[in-house]
Amino acid sequence: MLYADNNGSMPMHPDVKEYLLKRLEGPFANPNAIHSLGQQVNRAMEKCRKICAEIVGTKRKNIIFNSGSSEGIAHIFHSVLGHKPSERNIIITSGIEHSAVVNNCKNYQDLGYTVKTINTLKTGEIDLDHLKSLMSDKVAMVTVMATNNETGVIQPYKEIGSLAHEFGAIYFSDTTQIIGKDDFNFDESQMDFAVMSSHKIGSLIGTGFILARDIKMLSDFIPGGGQERGFRGGTQNYIGVECLTVAMQAFEKEKHLLHDVRKYRDEFETNIKKQHPSIVVIGDKARRIAGTTLISYPGIHGQAVQIELESKDIFVTTSSACSDNEPETSKVLKAMNISDDIGRGVVRISFCCGASSDCYQYLYDSLNGIYEKLSQVKTR
Ligand SMILES: Cc1ncc(COP(=O)(O)O)c(C=O)c1O
Repeated sequence: MLYADNNGSMPMHPDVKEYLLKRLEGPFANPNAIHSLGQQVNRAMEKCRKICAEIVGTKRKNIIFNSGSSEGIAHIFHSVLGHKPSERNIIITSGIEHSAVVNNCKNYQDLGYTVKTINTLKTGEIDLDHLKSLMSDKVAMVTVMATNNETGVIQPYKEIGSLAHEFGAIYFSDTTQIIGKDDFNFDESQMDFAVMSSHKIGSLIGTGFILARDIKMLSDFIPGGGQERGFRGGTQNYIGVECLTVAMQAFEKEKHLLHDVRKYRDEFETNIKKQHPSIVVIGDKARRIAGTTLISYPGIHGQAVQIELESKDIFVTTSSACSDNEPETSKVLKAMNISDDIGRGVVRISFCCGASSDCYQYLYDSLNGIYEKLSQVKTR
């Protein structure tokens, strides 16, 4: 089996599995209880906060544990924008955001905010000049992701943050696909807020965190028992937090492997394009996270390729896991001005640190055969 959908969800890392199996022996307690077991669990969770903070380059007081990115994104919108627009009534976003950001923008538009969308370049990066032209002192928040989940393209987030701050706006970046997947330092990022989901980095579903440059900018989101300093009520998923921390540490240990993954990926792309010159690799002119390839053979439907790959036990998606059953060109590719012929043909291949040259060779052999077969059907 070759699992190549790590941007959708990364299989559990062996270190996490080993930790979890032992951890299930206990102790179990409410981390907010004052008895010694509760305090023991709480100390472990606070140690995790410190470790995660060190890894992402910030202070532990800037981390709020939660259920993952979708919750984090809603919490940040709520904190920055409140219930109705003030003097600052503009949200600037990009055309390549995940639906979690897109739908929050829509909700705040319904509340009276004006949403402006930055153009996307053909490379898959946002157009910084266009962003400059949209900025004013009416902008409340700029929200542009750090890495796109479909193309893997890394956005110029430091420049985006500097521009937002020049005009006194908040910069929130959806960092779901960069934390635990590439080098990232929050305090140097120019971001005011960032998010992460632990299942994207080889840990359990249902945990994650928010990073806040100044925690006072965050407001209470879930009323509850005052957990997470009142910002997010509800008993913390302390086992999830511990596993998330193990996954973050595993990435730190293994991130040197990304250099090789990038090399294998680039060789794979070069070879398959040599074999089938009409193939397009979307985003290959920009800096991307190491294991992601969004590939298209124009005229051959991505779902047909996906089904053929699955018959060989290779698991990919056609765009992102969330929009996999939409037979249309994704909105991300539309924003990049990619034609439907290419857009409907895409298959997203996403590996993590562990991808070997054998993985890429098997993928190459399989995909090569599939494209040969399907291109004959197409021309018949
Ligand atoms: C870029 C991006 N943002 C946000 C999310 C939402 O994450 P979750 O479903 O874990 O809340 C995802 C997940 O697909 C993502 O890829």
